[in-house]
Amino acid sequence: MLDLQDMRTDYMKGTLDENTVPSDPYLLFEQWFSEAVNAELKDPNTMLLATAGQNGQPNIRAVLLKIFDENGFVFFTNYNSVKAEEITQNPKVAVEFLWLELERQVRILGKCEKITTKESLSYFMKRSRDSQIGAWVSDQSSVITSRKAFQMQIEKMKQKFAKGNVPLPDFWGGYRVIPDQIEFWQGRPSRLHDRILYTKETEGWKIERLAP
Ligand SMILES: Cc1cc2nc3c(=O)[nH]c(=O)nc-3n(C[C@H](O)[C@H](O)[C@H](O)COP(=O)(O)O)c2cc1C
Repeated sequence: MLDLQDMRTDYMKGTLDENTVPSDPYLLFEQWFSEAVNAELKDPNTMLLATAGQNGQPNIRAVLLKIFDENGFVFFTNYNSVKAEEITQNPKVAVEFLWLELERQVRILGKCEKITTKESLSYFMKRSRDSQIGAWVSDQSSVITSRKAFQMQIEKMKQKFAKGNVPLPDFWGGYRVIPDQIEFWQGRPSRLHDRILYTKETEGWKIERLAP
């Protein structure tokens, strides 16, 4: 990826100009993301993920962005969770990053697909042992009787995996959000915000300014 440090200075003035933004939205995202990190925002990799399953009911929750590159935005989760079920029924998702302190939001429309087991394993191995065991224990989104019962399950699982590496559960891994559209929103005075929409085309991206 290109070094976007010079561009950052411009955007720190709080404007977005369709004539000077990079032609590649990933470059702009990378720049905004590093600015959110530098501003020491709490968990700037938090993204809101909206899904809608077969019945069309939208659902939304926070997940953490763990891999970002020109292929898309990757988060990790339980493949049996409600979100996973909804993604199976309808892979179209919406994502929002909200960096209020910087008066910025990024909105993404796209589709979700599972990453490879190899990629999931590579991230799983970087997680703490407790988080690895947590992935095994949590039947995410299922109803549980009590916190106490859950903690007993954790203890059991700790004993089961007392020795050696904790293996990657086959029901746990990453999803990649592959964007069709990415909108960058920069707050401006008097509600005259800057909105720049990137839409994927066969070759590259179309860039348009949207009314605030
Ligand atoms: C800041 C934050 C980060 C989260 N990150 C993740 C994550 O990376 N993966 C995940 O499965 N759940 C994450 N969660 C929990 C989800 O929001 C949600 O409770 C859980 O995934 C179950 O969602 P579902 O029932 O829609 O599948 C996070 C919650 C918060 C508040």
